[in-house]
Amino acid sequence: MEFKKRILVTGGAGFIGSHMVRLLVNTYSDYLVINFDKLTYAGNLENLKDIENKSNYVFFQGDVSSEKDVNEVFKTHQISDVIHLAAESHVDRSIESPMEFVQTNVLGTVNLLQHAKNFWEDKGKHVFHHVSTDEVYGSLGNTGLFTEKTPYDPRSPYSSSKASSDHFVMAFYHTYGLSIKMSNCSNNYGSHHFPEKLIPLMIHNICNNKDLPVYGKGDNIRDWLWVEDHARAINEIFHHGRVGQSYNVGGLNEWTNLDLVEYLCDLMDKKLNRNIGASRKLIRFVKDRAGHDQRYAIDASKLKEELNWSPSVTFEEGLEKTVDWYLNNEEWINQVTSGDYQKYYSKHYNNR
Ligand code: NAD
Ligand code: TYD
Repeated sequence: MEFKKRILVTGGAGFIGSHMVRLLVNTYSDYLVINFDKLTYAGNLENLKDIENKSNYVFFQGDVSSEKDVNEVFKTHQISDVIHLAAESHVDRSIESPMEFVQTNVLGTVNLLQHAKNFWEDKGKHVFHHVSTDEVYGSLGNTGLFTEKTPYDPRSPYSSSKASSDHFVMAFYHTYGLSIKMSNCSNNYGSHHFPEKLIPLMIHNICNNKDLPVYGKGDNIRDWLWVEDHARAINEIFHHGRVGQSYNVGGLNEWTNLDLVEYLCDLMDKKLNRNIGASRKLIRFVKDRAGHDQRYAIDASKLKEELNWSPSVTFEEGLEKTVDWYLNNEEWINQVTSGDYQKYYSKHYNNR
């Protein structure tokens, strides 16, 4: 079959990437979706079991920072567009080993940009969409929101590597005329989220009656968005966003970590038929994260005004769907926590 587009989705076996791949494969039967993923600890093909046999889906195992792998996938599949999500994504791991973040997030992005630039003759016909984070803007005080004009001020090794990759993406637009689009999204939550990040970690620990480690006083604020709404936003920007522009993505949904964990505890108590208040007893305040950003909050009005995007679910609805998914997919949890997870967990949390 002659496909209209042949889209390379990097990091498609990860949390957000798998939702992106699923949305594209199920919505556009005339696109071929090539999921390019190294399958690190965070990548899992189980995330895509429901679509793996579709005729418009292909998996290619490779490393975004490898010239050989990227060259091979561009040639083999005649890539027409890129949606780039592959990254090392966990702030705590970036504090422990920053070089992996430079390798994948910075060098990997530049490697992809180079191949796209060299491979695509008519640059106006091909889109390179780079998926980034609001963390590049740094940390907010009690008031204000991040807009697309907020100066970059990354504080963690993770956000610094993402900020660096964003700058290279913009440089390839200005210098070489690559048709880039970029999105900077707030914290995502939803199904298939690896249980090292706050929400899935808390759900997993509540299920197992394990301590719930809240960093510092639990007063840091994050702005949460349901992952499927993020995938919808990327889809809109990829198809209809302006070239050379970045778009902030977020749902005006700020929570302190402690309020969120307590809400989750009560929701889980209901779902597990425990006495309300039982799970809250598991909360433990532990040593704070080094350089912990105080508050993130996104102004997504550009995306709403230009592309008419807004979240499709409330936080309460999204969180309930998420909890239900984890409770019904114990096998997935067992599988992703079977490798080095316990080792990571003990190293990171014991004696904290
Ligand atoms: P994730 O850690 O769940 O998944 C990352 C995926 O990338 C995994 O499948 C992994 O195997 C793959 N990968 C890692 N290194 C690779 C390499 N060298 N080559 C090829 N594949 C590699 O991450 P996520 O939470 O799904 O985030 C996806 C993207 O969205 C990232 O770029 C992240 O910065 C961005 N983002 C995430 C959030 C969030 O809340 N999770 C918010 C905004 C932006
Ligand atoms: P996380 O899910 O790692 O996302 P990010 O650091 O990219 O925002 O963390 C979300 C918030 O939760 C952040 O303020 C750190 C905090 N946190 C805890 O309090 N305990 C934990 O065990 C984890 C993983 C995070």
